[in-house]
Order: sequence, then structure tokens, then C-alpha cells
Amino acid sequence: KGKTVFVAGVADSTGYGWAICKALANAGATITVGTWPPVLGIFQKSLASGKFDEDMILNDGSKMVIEKIYPLDAVFDTSDDVPADVLANKRYAGLDGFSIEEVAKKVEGDYGKIDILVHSLANGPEVQKPLLETSRAGYLAAASASSYSLVSLVSKFGPIMNPGGSVLSLTYIASEKVIPGYGGGMSSAKAALESDTRVLAYEAGRKYGITVNTISAGPLKSRAASAISKGEKKSFIEVGIDYCRANAPLEKDLYSDDVGSAAACLLSPFFGAVTGVTLYVDNGMHAVGMVQ
Ligand code: NAI
Repeated sequence: KGKTVFVAGVADSTGYGWAICKALANAGATITVGTWPPVLGIFQKSLASGKFDEDMILNDGSKMVIEKIYPLDAVFDTSDDVPADVLANKRYAGLDGFSIEEVAKKVEGDYGKIDILVHSLANGPEVQKPLLETSRAGYLAAASASSYSLVSLVSKFGPIMNPGGSVLSLTYIASEKVIPGYGGGMSSAKAALESDTRVLAYEAGRKYGITVNTISAGPLKSRAASAISKGEKKSFIEVGIDYCRANAPLEKDLYSDDVGSAAACLLSPFFGAVTGVTLYVDNGMHAVGMVQ
């Protein structure tokens, strides 16, 4: 029987979440996703209008099927956590059950147990500010959306995962090396995510028999990354892409599909004894201190 997958953080075809869906669909998995309510409408419209059709073609020529799209706001653990102003917000109008616990319940109702859980989301409202200028609220919001969301997803989805299942998230090297421009406490949030990957690997490994890993991905011009900062001539992400292209051991472009295929490997039974790791998928950039 094919594996059932839930990927949290897919809203267009440019990001890492989409590429991971595609790689897993190519491997025969059933794909479901969780999409942030504010971008759910546009995602559904774009899918229906055929905007992503070309990006949906699988290796065998068929079109990727996203079986279900669940509204998901990963800053809310239960329905009680959703404040009144969010419920009243028109971007959330008509939606219910978008907290992590409720989505896990819905997925369980639809599929029973699942095999693979992917966390491909991040948000830092003050990402454009240096850490020194980041407010407490901005810092905590970054941690809430980008790190605690993984802890909560594993805690709510763990009980509905088959033993032997696997969890994966996406991180960035700014957690361990200074990357100016990746502000607002996002560097701190990624450091927490990587540390939590190890602790969750231990706890969820013991409790549910699942693996928990993270991929430290190289720069990609996704929607989220493009929003980091515009810059004078080049945006933050363009500078990062050019820097890696010029300095990484492998002198080639990094595609979202490179991360997709590495993710599919890491999530496969071939990697059943690998847990708690941060795997670099960055053309080797992390290993370089200086180039000549
Ligand atoms: P993306 O824009 O495709 O994905 C981010 C997603 O997070 C979006 O769909 C957004 O709607 C969703 N999101 C934001 N707040 C949310 C919330 N509260 N609840 C649910 N969903 C929420 O962009 P990308 O870059 O592919 O990001 C995916 C992951 O990859 C993130 O963890 C990011 O930090 C990581 N990453 C990205 C790199 C890059 O250069 N693009 C490099 C290394 C890691």
C-alpha cells in the first residue's frame, strides 16, 4: 500500500513544500496538504485555473493529485487558541477547524493513520529587522510560527502516524552561521527547530516509533523568501542564491526539486535508522569557509 502524506505549508508551486509533494507523488504516495487560510483562496483558484498544471506533471506524464487541502494555521494548537479577531477576519471567514489539533482529527477521519508528516512553513513578522531591533513580540511570533509549530504538529499527529513513519522539516543555515538580513529572530527560530529535531527524534521515536529529521536547504526564490527584503539592487534571496552559485562546491543552480528528491529519500524506509539529523541540501555550501 502506498504511503499517506500530510505536508503543512503549501500554497503555490514555487516553494519547497510543493517540490516535496511532487517527489513523494512520484514515489506513489497519496498527497494531502495544509494551507495557511490567508492564502488558501488564491491557492485553490490557481489550482482550478490550471496555473500550476505544468508544475504538476509527474515523471510518468500523469498529473499530481493533491487529494485534500486542509486549512491550517500552525500558530493555533486547538480551537480554543483562536482569538475572536481572527475568527472575524474575512480571510478566515467560513473556515473552521484550522488549528493543528482539529486538522489532525480531520486527517485521521479521512485517512486513519498516515506515514509521513512534513513541516514546510515559517513566518517571522519582523524578519526585515536585525536581531538587535527585533521586538519581544516579533521574536516570539517567529518562534511560534516557525519552531513551536513543529513541536505541536508532532505532538498532535504523532498519535495518528504509523510506526516506521517519518517527520521532516526545513531549516536554514542562519541557525548556526551569521546570515545578515535573516532577521526578526528567524535565525533563533531555526536554531530552536534544529535542536527540537533532536529532542523530538528521541521522544517521538520512543513514543510512536517514527523518525524526525530536518533538511537545511540552500536558498530558493520562494514566495516566503522573496518577502524577506527587497534590497537596493538585489533582494536578500537573490544575493543568497548568487553567493551560493559562486562559492558552493557544486557549481550549479539549486532547484526546489533537489530538496524534493533528498526529502523523498530521507522519508523512505531506506533511511529508517536515520533520525535526529540536520541534512544539508545546499550544493555543499555549508562546508565552505573561504574560496580562492
Ligand atoms: P513557501 O512560501 O513556499 O512556504 C512557506 C509556507 O508557510 C507558505 O505556504 C505560507 O503560507 C506558510 N505559512 C506561514 N505561516 C503559516 C502558519 N501560521 N500556518 C500555516 N502555514 C503558514 O516558502 P519556502 O521558502 O519554500 O518555505 C518552506 C520552508 O523552507 C520554510 O520552513 C523555510 O524557512 C524553509 N527554507 C527556505 C529556504 C529558501 O531559501 N526559500 C532556505 C532554507 C529553508
